[in-house]
Amino acid sequence: MDFDFLKIGRSKNCGVSDTFLLNDEIVQRTESYVHSQLSDESSGHDWWHIHRVWQTAKKLAEKENADQFIVQLAALLHDIADWKFYNGNEDIGQQKARAWLEQLKVDEQTISHVCQIIKDISFKGAHVITTMKSKEGMIVQDADRLDALGAIGIARAFAYGGHKGREMYNPSVKPELHISFDQYKKKQSHTINHFYEKLLLLKERMNTEAAKTIAEERHKFMESYLKRFFEEWDGN
Ligand code: ADP
Ligand code: NI
Repeated sequence: MDFDFLKIGRSKNCGVSDTFLLNDEIVQRTESYVHSQLSDESSGHDWWHIHRVWQTAKKLAEKENADQFIVQLAALLHDIADWKFYNGNEDIGQQKARAWLEQLKVDEQTISHVCQIIKDISFKGAHVITTMKSKEGMIVQDADRLDALGAIGIARAFAYGGHKGREMYNPSVKPELHISFDQYKKKQSHTINHFYEKLLLLKERMNTEAAKTIAEERHKFMESYLKRFFEEWDGN
């Protein structure tokens, strides 16, 4: 069956009973839901991050001829609950996304695909290989990672550091390339280290050609930013 029409059962939350929801309507309701959940977030995982990832993911999906419905739902829901803010619970994101999509009576195949993407999407450490299992997953991961690069990526890194009360930089604490997700999760270093532990590694890990090209540019911008940062740090 085409995904254009999905049967929706009785649902208190949607106020619709035994009617059909168009995919577009499911996307719109998901947008409103995510917006309401993440509108006053201050760690760089706020609604506007989701909005940028969503728009980028749609463009990449068009280029890659991917399933727009899956891509949009996964982009919108990918940060609905992050382990970083739930005591390291890695399953919380998929659980919350599943609960939402089940309420809308979205079919199980779509829910599992979206949840799989949410489960796999995160960066888990320099030496931890994370392979996305579908084209749609690769696209959403690329869109998410592009938003961690360039001018916005820099702003988000310092926003996150501030949110966590971390030092901006401390020359005596060197970066570490983590070999396990557990090690990466426990790390509480200053923000400049995050560039070396994650952000500067991302351009080599893009999945799609279009994202690789954008990542190259943003990477160069971050390198020149860091060069200038260290010059100013030394009073030059
Ligand atoms: P992912 O989408 O791979 O899970 P994260 O949630 O780790 O990514 O990162 C999202 C944003 O938060 C990024 O912009 C990233 O720079 C920032 N961030 C995450 N961890 C840190 C950190 N330890 N220091 C500074 N910024 C961080
Ligand atoms: Ni994200």
